[in-house]
Amino acid sequence: MVSYKELGLVNTREMFAKAIKGGYAIPAFNFNNMEQLQAIIKAAAETKSPVILQVSKGARNYANQTLLRYMAQGAVEYAKELGWEHPQICLHLDHGDSFELCKSCVDFGFSSVMIDASSLPYEENIALTKKVVDYAHQFDVTVEAELGVLAGVEDEVSSAVSHYTKPEEVVDFATRTGCDSLAISIGTSHGAYKFTPEQCTRDPKTGRLVPPPLAFDVLDAVMEQLPGFPIVLHGSSSVPQEYVDMINQYGGKLPDAVGIPEEQLRKAAKSAVCKINIDSDSRLAFTAAVRKVLAEKPGEFDPRKYCGVARDYMEELYKHKIINVLGSDGKAE
Ligand code: G3H
Ligand code: 13P
Ligand code: ZN
Repeated sequence: MVSYKELGLVNTREMFAKAIKGGYAIPAFNFNNMEQLQAIIKAAAETKSPVILQVSKGARNYANQTLLRYMAQGAVEYAKELGWEHPQICLHLDHGDSFELCKSCVDFGFSSVMIDASSLPYEENIALTKKVVDYAHQFDVTVEAELGVLAGVEDEVSSAVSHYTKPEEVVDFATRTGCDSLAISIGTSHGAYKFTPEQCTRDPKTGRLVPPPLAFDVLDAVMEQLPGFPIVLHGSSSVPQEYVDMINQYGGKLPDAVGIPEEQLRKAAKSAVCKINIDSDSRLAFTAAVRKVLAEKPGEFDPRKYCGVARDYMEELYKHKIINVLGSDGKAE
């Protein structure tokens, strides 16, 4: 058993309480490799933003959970080396799908876990979530749960259609499970294709897809039911069109990729939404950089030359999200 406290990590409790009060959101960035982690920590350290490092089941399979956990531990030391005196870094399991997986992360030094039982029937979601909460809370590890279903297809997360969270269920769910935060479905989805062209309109000037607005009425109704309770938004990448264009320009094929407009995320961040999950945007930044460097320098074969550029792109992206979208800069001096 390793306690996250010995590793210099923090859980989400205080982070979320401050974020709700202060009208900003904590960035939750997924990481699978060293370059992503370096970029996240550099961005957080430079902007003095609290940050959540997320590890998905797919990331554990790709990079090995032991290695990822030691990398997160190393991240705390790296942050200090960068001059961030009191780093506020949370290590979080993203989309845990079983009690055993959540328990193994709690036992292994994670400071927060998500149990995503949102695809199960309501009562089964409650039972599994409560089991995870009862275990995690013994070690002061915080637990995120999910109600409602997000659309999207990722390695380990898949559903063709979304179902908005039912506001009339949230009080019963939060009370009976004891969860610390709740991920809700209000129209966001995973991946780089969040809406079909049929769901969007087109900007006549640019020809770009304009997505439909998120269901802020559902968010408002949830907040009315659970005043001051921490709400989480998954599937919150904006799919920056400059990266999509670069990828397409340099041999990729991402037609009509579209995300959540940043002004909608800005609005959400000011509410009880205190954790915003971003993964796809980092994947796009990485891929755009690698494609560009390799297309422009076909003789290059040193991975540091293109992964280093990818890291710079991701760092810029993370800083932009922190400062211009979530407003979490300067909140962890
Ligand atoms: O919510 C899903 C995250 O983007 C993780 O995706 O399962 O492909 O690692 P992944
Ligand atoms: P995106 O695919 O929109 O980046 O969402 C990531 C996410 O929700 C991770 O849990
Ligand atoms: Zn997610």
